[in-house]
Amino acid sequence: MPKKVLLLNGPNLNLLGTRETSIYGTATLPAIEQNITEIFKQQQIECAAFQSNSEGGLIDWLHTHRESNFLLFNPGAYTHTSVALRDAILGIKIPFIEIHLSNVFKREPFRHHSYFSDIAIGSVIGLGLYGYEAAARYAIDYLQRS
Ligand code: DQA
Repeated sequence: MPKKVLLLNGPNLNLLGTRETSIYGTATLPAIEQNITEIFKQQQIECAAFQSNSEGGLIDWLHTHRESNFLLFNPGAYTHTSVALRDAILGIKIPFIEIHLSNVFKREPFRHHSYFSDIAIGSVIGLGLYGYEAAARYAIDYLQRS
């Protein structure tokens, strides 16, 4: 069975490229999705990408793709608020990496708590675009080992 990875981005990440570029950089979300999808394709791994600004949209998409093997997830501001998304990931039992473009620990105190870090394999924080790529490389290695 070919392996399948999910790349999921939460609220406001559709604005990447123009949103607070001093914090998030200038790469657009389609560019990130294309780059990551290509990295997986080179390893014959399918990658499905999705972004939503709503909690329900993200949860429904995860439920629909529950048979997948791995998740790369930037929950955006839901990182700091969403028990429902945490429960969704626990419910579908999918191994995942939490990604943040910015170093949330250098920012406002309300960004210092995550509902995902303690249930993730790991978190990649503050490395910008490279964080997505590093997480993808880890996922490839993880899938080859499992
Ligand atoms: C973010 C950090 C969050 O605190 C913020 O709400 C975002 C983006 C990041 O990628 O750095 O929307 O997840």
